Amino acid sequence: MTSPDVLQSETEYPRLLLASNREPFRVIRGTDGDVRHCIRSMGGLTSALCPVLERCEGVWVSWNPEPFAPDDEIQVREQDGDGIPFPVIQVGLRNSEVRSYYNGFCNRALWPLCHTILRCVTPRLDYWQDFRLINERFADEIATQSRRSDVIWIHDYHLMLVPAAMRRRIDPKHRVGYFHHVPFPNARVLKAFPWHRQLIKGLLGADSIGFHTPEYASNFIECCQELLSCDTRTEQGTIVHGKHKTVVRVRPIGVDAKAFASLADEPEVRKHAIEIRRTLPCERLVLSVDRLDYTKGILERVEAIRSLFSRLPQCRGVVTFMQVAVPTRPDVPEYQQYRLKLEEAINALNGEFGHGDWKPFIYRTEPLNRKELVAHYLAADVACVTPIADGMNLVASEYCASRTDEDGVLVLSNQAGASAILGEFAISVDIRHQESVVTGILQALTMSEAEQSSRMQKLRSLVMKNTTDVWLRNCLHDILEPDPVEGEQVAVFAQREQSRRNGNGRAHAGKSRHPAHSHGAAAKRRHHAGNGNAQRPAH
Ligand code: ADP
Ligand code: F6P
Repeated sequence: MTSPDVLQSETEYPRLLLASNREPFRVIRGTDGDVRHCIRSMGGLTSALCPVLERCEGVWVSWNPEPFAPDDEIQVREQDGDGIPFPVIQVGLRNSEVRSYYNGFCNRALWPLCHTILRCVTPRLDYWQDFRLINERFADEIATQSRRSDVIWIHDYHLMLVPAAMRRRIDPKHRVGYFHHVPFPNARVLKAFPWHRQLIKGLLGADSIGFHTPEYASNFIECCQELLSCDTRTEQGTIVHGKHKTVVRVRPIGVDAKAFASLADEPEVRKHAIEIRRTLPCERLVLSVDRLDYTKGILERVEAIRSLFSRLPQCRGVVTFMQVAVPTRPDVPEYQQYRLKLEEAINALNGEFGHGDWKPFIYRTEPLNRKELVAHYLAADVACVTPIADGMNLVASEYCASRTDEDGVLVLSNQAGASAILGEFAISVDIRHQESVVTGILQALTMSEAEQSSRMQKLRSLVMKNTTDVWLRNCLHDILEPDPVEGEQVAVFAQREQSRRNGNGRAHAGKSRHPAHSHGAAAKRRHHAGNGNAQRPAH
């Protein structure tokens, strides 16, 4: 496993008790039922958090669809360099609970609700009942595992009720953090959801809540104010509910940038990138890498590509689009329908424009390992990241981190959280308007080398600054001893408020880069301040 650039000084970090629904690794068994090897689970959450626990002491509590037997874990850990390098505690779910809690409430209600794709929201009472039950089960397991000095850090919408459930189980002085990896809807949207008060109260059990962008954070504060009548201080990011105070912070997640860059410089990976291009009968390659999720805008992208080839015949035989889309949540009807529709659209596109060896659209559904992924990032002239809504989107940052030659172009949806950081130097497009996507792709394909390099240098410098390491330190600091008033966070919220008053709902359409800057500033300030408290994360 590549060494991440996180945690230079492990000793200064507390022991972490991480909890998420998704397990960090999946075990792969042979026909005899024995564990053969394990592979990293797909998705932004595990990509971001694995490097954290690979380096600091901790335990990860999660559900695993493939339960380990007691001696499996030993086998799993004995895998040579490819095992699970930290303890994993499993929370067991029955099949019926997987259907109602995970497929049902998490994936058919909360996921589309958070992404404001309301036609997909299915708010069923039986789903909700199991969601509550499973959140309690997680809280029991976390409480069993926890030691007095641990930092309990709960992750993502599957476990929104756990922070408050922890308060009923542990000492009030015990610090609990929560990080929300997806967008947070505004009060108008959340209000229409039957269990909105319970969800907000569930989160407010945390001492600190982190969001990727000012928009999501201020939506949450607005919900606390309007739907629960909490005492909120928007510009300071604090919420008081009953006797408990929660701080809300904007902490955009980063990637393990140095690890991607160093893989990109490995001769074997470079050779693979050349090989990918050699086997493709085209001059330009545009790449997209996503979970096969309707929020990722894959279908809309295919429609935009169809329009591009139909209007510009000179692109045929010259440009190839490659989509790596790994199926996800396969038991959820909306995902099954989306996949069928998508594959139909891709077949039609290839049928209409493909000729000879050349296909306009190469569609692959297999997961890539890290080296293959970076080789694909290196092979692509353009990365096209155009979700309809996305908490952050790590693929955008991974592409930039991998482009060590400082070329290549990022086309980025203004609906991705990543746009708050990278939007200014990417080609920013609006996926809701096909024309914007077509024009954005063309602009990327025809960009001069000088402009590519100038943009990519800036993108890389942002990605290199805003790493997993910086995110982790800031989040731990927020959980352990949040500053009562943090200057740059006040600026973030103030700017967001201003933008809302001016009627600009989405504050991150390429201009609002405060969060990334505030990280650098915060880190520098704390460094100069001499890092007085032993529990405070090191810099
Ligand atoms: P999400 O959290 O919604 O899945 P992100 O873009 O934030 O979206 O994170 C996706 C993560 O999964 C990234 O780290 C990306 O590299 C990884 N990933 C997505 N698709 C693939 C794939 N086909 N092969 C390997 N990794 C993938
Ligand atoms: O990053 C958002 C997220 O929902 C994570 O919480 C999750 O692990 C990932 O996407 C993949 O989804 P799933 O865990 O449902 O496969």
